[in-house]
Amino acid sequence: MDSTILQKIKELELERTSWNVTEENMNIMLNYCRQNDLHRLLEIGSFNGYSALNFALICEEVISLEIEEKRFMEATNNCQIAKNIKIILADANEYMKQLITKKELFDAILIDGNNSQYSNYLTLAIPLIKDTGMIFIDNTVSHKDRLEKKGFFETLQKSNLSFKELNTTKGLIVAFKTRKFYAAQNSSKN
Ligand SMILES: C[S@@+](CC[C@H](N)C(=O)[O-])C[C@H]1O[C@@H](n2cnc3c(N)ncnc32)[C@H](O)[C@@H]1O
Repeated sequence: MDSTILQKIKELELERTSWNVTEENMNIMLNYCRQNDLHRLLEIGSFNGYSALNFALICEEVISLEIEEKRFMEATNNCQIAKNIKIILADANEYMKQLITKKELFDAILIDGNNSQYSNYLTLAIPLIKDTGMIFIDNTVSHKDRLEKKGFFETLQKSNLSFKELNTTKGLIVAFKTRKFYAAQNSSKN
């Protein structure tokens, strides 16, 4: 493990805010990455770079999108010690469309941006995730009402992805493609 990255994570832990992924959810996602060989990760919502730094300990490449310039600068500054992190100043709703056009693929995607846009992030994440990949969706308990109101759970059901809703303090959904997803894709082609 890279001790410089660990040190920076410890520093950011001391100034943790409610916007950072909880330690509980972070550890669960890192375990999924370790156990399933998830190496190329896309994150929606860098904030101060806390979760990107954690993923950088396990993943080969972390691309993290941040819409706010001030937060982009802060995350870039905090993450400069990790060669495998790229922080990009962009609206994920637009940038992910470019990634789709370029046929980019990821082993894992973390949805942790503006919760009123989760539905759209999920729709864009589906073509970007490898067949064996996983989509992590943060704060699904703490922001349940808002996500419900904005149609996120309906989009998730209609996506035909299989998913597990983990009963953590703030909630975390892990979604992935299984036979159900491909069967629905094939039947829509016929
Ligand atoms: C909950 S915070 C992310 C926390 C971060 N993952 C961590 O654990 O440190 C959400 C971040 O998403 C950013 N954001 C909101 N909408 C976005 C969008 N459409 N594209 C990219 N970033 C966005 C916000 O500016 C904010 O910094």
